[in-house]
Amino acid sequence: MRPRIFLGFTLPLLLAAGHSFADPFPDADLEQGEQTHMEICVQCHMEKFGGEGGSDIYTRSDRRVTSPSALSQQLTACTTMLNLDLFPEDEHHLAGFLNKHFYKFE
Ligand code: HEC
Repeated sequence: MRPRIFLGFTLPLLLAAGHSFADPFPDADLEQGEQTHMEICVQCHMEKFGGEGGSDIYTRSDRRVTSPSALSQQLTACTTMLNLDLFPEDEHHLAGFLNKHFYKFE
Protein backbone atom coordinates (compact mmCIF):
# COMPACT_ATOMS: atom_id res chain seq x y z
CA MET A 1 0.00 0.00 0.00
CA ARG A 2 2.57 2.56 1.02
CA PRO A 3 4.69 2.67 -2.13
CA ARG A 4 1.57 3.26 -4.14
CA ILE A 5 0.53 6.23 -2.14
CA PHE A 6 4.06 7.55 -2.40
CA LEU A 7 4.09 7.23 -6.18
CA GLY A 8 0.67 8.71 -6.53
CA PHE A 9 1.89 11.73 -4.70
CA THR A 10 5.35 12.25 -6.21
CA LEU A 11 4.73 11.35 -9.82
CA PRO A 12 2.43 14.26 -10.62
CA LEU A 13 4.80 16.52 -8.75
CA LEU A 14 7.77 15.28 -10.77
CA LEU A 15 5.87 15.71 -13.98
CA ALA A 16 4.85 19.21 -13.05
CA ALA A 17 8.42 20.11 -12.18
CA GLY A 18 9.70 18.42 -15.33
CA HIS A 19 7.32 20.41 -17.39
CA SER A 20 8.36 23.79 -16.13
CA PHE A 21 12.08 23.11 -16.26
CA ALA A 22 12.35 20.95 -19.37
CA ASP A 23 13.34 23.72 -21.73
CA PRO A 24 16.76 25.26 -21.00
CA PHE A 25 15.97 28.09 -23.42
CA PRO A 26 12.41 29.00 -22.54
CA ASP A 27 10.41 31.16 -24.91
CA ALA A 28 13.07 31.10 -27.60
CA ASP A 29 11.59 31.97 -30.96
CA LEU A 30 12.71 28.91 -32.88
CA GLU A 31 11.71 30.23 -36.27
CA GLN A 32 13.65 33.39 -35.80
CA GLY A 33 16.58 31.36 -34.53
CA GLU A 34 16.47 29.18 -37.60
CA GLN A 35 16.34 32.22 -39.84
CA THR A 36 19.33 33.90 -38.20
CA HIS A 37 21.18 30.60 -38.28
CA MET A 38 20.64 30.23 -42.01
CA GLU A 39 21.62 33.79 -42.67
CA ILE A 40 24.87 33.98 -40.77
CA CYS A 41 25.99 30.66 -39.35
CA VAL A 42 25.41 27.89 -41.86
CA GLN A 43 27.78 28.79 -44.64
CA CYS A 44 30.94 28.89 -42.61
CA HIS A 45 30.14 25.73 -40.64
CA MET A 46 29.28 23.98 -43.89
CA GLU A 47 32.54 24.97 -45.55
CA LYS A 48 34.58 23.94 -42.57
CA PHE A 49 32.75 20.91 -41.27
CA GLY A 50 30.16 19.79 -43.81
CA GLY A 51 26.87 18.05 -43.22
CA GLU A 52 23.44 19.26 -44.17
CA GLY A 53 23.18 22.91 -43.17
CA GLY A 54 26.65 22.62 -41.65
CA SER A 55 25.14 20.44 -38.96
CA ASP A 56 28.14 18.13 -38.64
CA ILE A 57 29.72 20.55 -36.24
CA TYR A 58 26.84 20.11 -33.83
CA THR A 59 26.63 16.36 -34.15
CA ARG A 60 30.31 15.38 -34.35
CA SER A 61 31.33 12.93 -31.70
CA ASP A 62 33.92 15.25 -30.17
CA ARG A 63 31.68 18.27 -30.14
CA ARG A 64 32.44 20.83 -27.51
CA VAL A 65 28.97 21.55 -26.39
CA THR A 66 27.79 19.15 -23.74
CA SER A 67 25.47 21.32 -21.68
CA PRO A 68 23.07 24.22 -22.19
CA SER A 69 25.54 26.70 -20.73
CA ALA A 70 28.31 25.39 -23.00
CA LEU A 71 25.96 25.91 -25.91
CA SER A 72 25.47 29.55 -24.98
CA GLN A 73 29.22 29.94 -24.54
CA GLN A 74 30.24 28.38 -27.85
CA LEU A 75 27.59 30.31 -29.63
CA THR A 76 28.81 33.54 -28.11
CA ALA A 77 32.38 32.55 -29.01
CA CYS A 78 31.34 32.41 -32.66
CA THR A 79 29.37 35.63 -32.62
CA THR A 80 32.16 37.46 -30.81
CA MET A 81 34.79 36.13 -33.16
CA LEU A 82 32.66 37.37 -36.03
CA ASN A 83 31.94 40.70 -34.41
CA LEU A 84 28.28 40.06 -35.03
CA ASP A 85 26.99 42.11 -32.17
CA LEU A 86 23.75 40.16 -31.87
CA PHE A 87 21.19 41.11 -29.30
CA PRO A 88 20.99 38.74 -26.35
CA GLU A 89 17.47 37.83 -27.50
CA ASP A 90 18.84 36.77 -30.87
CA GLU A 91 21.43 34.56 -29.23
CA HIS A 92 18.68 33.11 -27.07
CA HIS A 93 16.60 32.28 -30.14
CA LEU A 94 19.63 30.77 -31.84
CA ALA A 95 20.46 28.65 -28.83
CA GLY A 96 16.86 27.49 -28.60
CA PHE A 97 16.88 26.50 -32.25
CA LEU A 98 20.20 24.63 -32.04
CA ASN A 99 19.09 22.88 -28.91
CA LYS A 100 15.78 21.84 -30.36
CA HIS A 101 17.31 20.40 -33.51
CA PHE A 102 20.74 19.16 -32.53
CA TYR A 103 21.72 19.12 -28.90
CA LYS A 104 18.37 18.29 -27.35
CA PHE A 105 19.24 19.20 -23.77
CA GLU A 106 16.38 19.11 -21.34
C1 HEC B 1 33.51 32.19 -39.99
C2 HEC B 1 33.13 30.85 -39.62
C3 HEC B 1 32.00 30.65 -38.60
C4 HEC B 1 30.78 31.27 -38.55
C5 HEC B 1 30.20 32.31 -39.49
C6 HEC B 1 30.09 30.70 -37.39
N1 HEC B 1 30.88 29.76 -36.79
FE1 HEC B 1 30.31 28.57 -35.22
N2 HEC B 1 32.08 27.61 -35.34
C7 HEC B 1 33.11 27.89 -36.22
C8 HEC B 1 34.25 27.05 -35.93
C9 HEC B 1 35.59 27.06 -36.67
C10 HEC B 1 33.86 26.22 -34.84
C11 HEC B 1 34.67 25.14 -34.15
C12 HEC B 1 35.39 25.71 -32.96
C13 HEC B 1 36.23 24.65 -32.31
O1 HEC B 1 36.02 23.46 -32.48
O2 HEC B 1 37.09 25.09 -31.56
C14 HEC B 1 32.49 26.60 -34.50
C15 HEC B 1 31.76 26.01 -33.48
C16 HEC B 1 30.49 26.36 -33.11
C17 HEC B 1 29.73 25.73 -32.05
C18 HEC B 1 30.20 24.56 -31.18
C19 HEC B 1 29.88 23.23 -31.84
C20 HEC B 1 30.22 22.04 -30.96
O3 HEC B 1 29.29 21.52 -30.28
O4 HEC B 1 31.36 21.62 -30.95
C21 HEC B 1 28.53 26.38 -31.99
C22 HEC B 1 27.38 26.09 -31.05
C23 HEC B 1 28.55 27.40 -33.00
N3 HEC B 1 29.74 27.36 -33.69
C24 HEC B 1 27.52 28.28 -33.23
C25 HEC B 1 27.54 29.25 -34.22
C26 HEC B 1 26.44 30.14 -34.49
C27 HEC B 1 25.12 30.14 -33.74
C28 HEC B 1 26.81 30.94 -35.52
C29 HEC B 1 26.01 32.06 -36.18
C30 HEC B 1 25.61 33.14 -35.32
C31 HEC B 1 28.15 30.54 -35.92
N4 HEC B 1 28.55 29.53 -35.11
C32 HEC B 1 28.84 31.12 -36.96
C33 HEC B 1 33.09 28.83 -37.22
C34 HEC B 1 32.05 29.69 -37.50
